[in-house]
Amino acid sequence: MSLAEQSVGFEEFCFARITETLSEQSWVVVPDALPPALAEALFAQVRMMTPDDFAAAGVGRSHDHTLNSFVRRDQICWIEGANDAEKEWLAFCSRLQTYINRRLFMGLFSFESHFAHYAPGAFYKKHLDAFRPSPTERGARRVLSLVAYLNPGWQSADGGELVIYDEHGAEPVQRIQPLYGTLAIFLSDQVPHEVAAANRDRYSIAGWFRVNGTKADRVDPPL
Ligand code: OGA
Ligand code: MN
Repeated sequence: MSLAEQSVGFEEFCFARITETLSEQSWVVVPDALPPALAEALFAQVRMMTPDDFAAAGVGRSHDHTLNSFVRRDQICWIEGANDAEKEWLAFCSRLQTYINRRLFMGLFSFESHFAHYAPGAFYKKHLDAFRPSPTERGARRVLSLVAYLNPGWQSADGGELVIYDEHGAEPVQRIQPLYGTLAIFLSDQVPHEVAAANRDRYSIAGWFRVNGTKADRVDPPL
């Protein structure tokens, strides 16, 4: 088997695991899911980034978007496909989007993502990534969240776990270490989650697949 065939097999295996689990529950975690070459490229980029590349992350939809350091303290940098690493990342997520749509008919339409840096002490309190749609809501909605971790040698003492809660947000059901190459994927409006305070620099990419809010007779304004 050629290297290219091996990497296609690796990706299929990982995508299959994601869709099979998501057909039964609202979240899935796959260790070592990032293709090694992609993980290396993204990690190399993260290491080159300086504090100036990042901006403080905000909370809420764009019209009431606010900086709230009580809720979250991470720093983010949106991924626009500015270099090969970002392009490969977006291509990987686009293949995942197609795969999920074919298997689960989710109608995923667009994708957005950003690098996130949690400095020591930074956290993100329990939250949902999207609210359940109201009948009057317009625009593209986040439906599926994805987080990829880029932290070689992470130890339990480093904290910074992604804590997944039950659907009511009452009890933690899983704590996930932000280990290099791990992917966490979950339904944006159904899985309350938080990022526990990290004791060392923690790097990740958070992304969201959206469904298209366009109705037959009009095009929704961007959020
Ligand atoms: C987020 C988020 C989780 C993580 O950015 O909305 O919940 O583990 N991130 O970084
Ligand atoms: Mn989140």
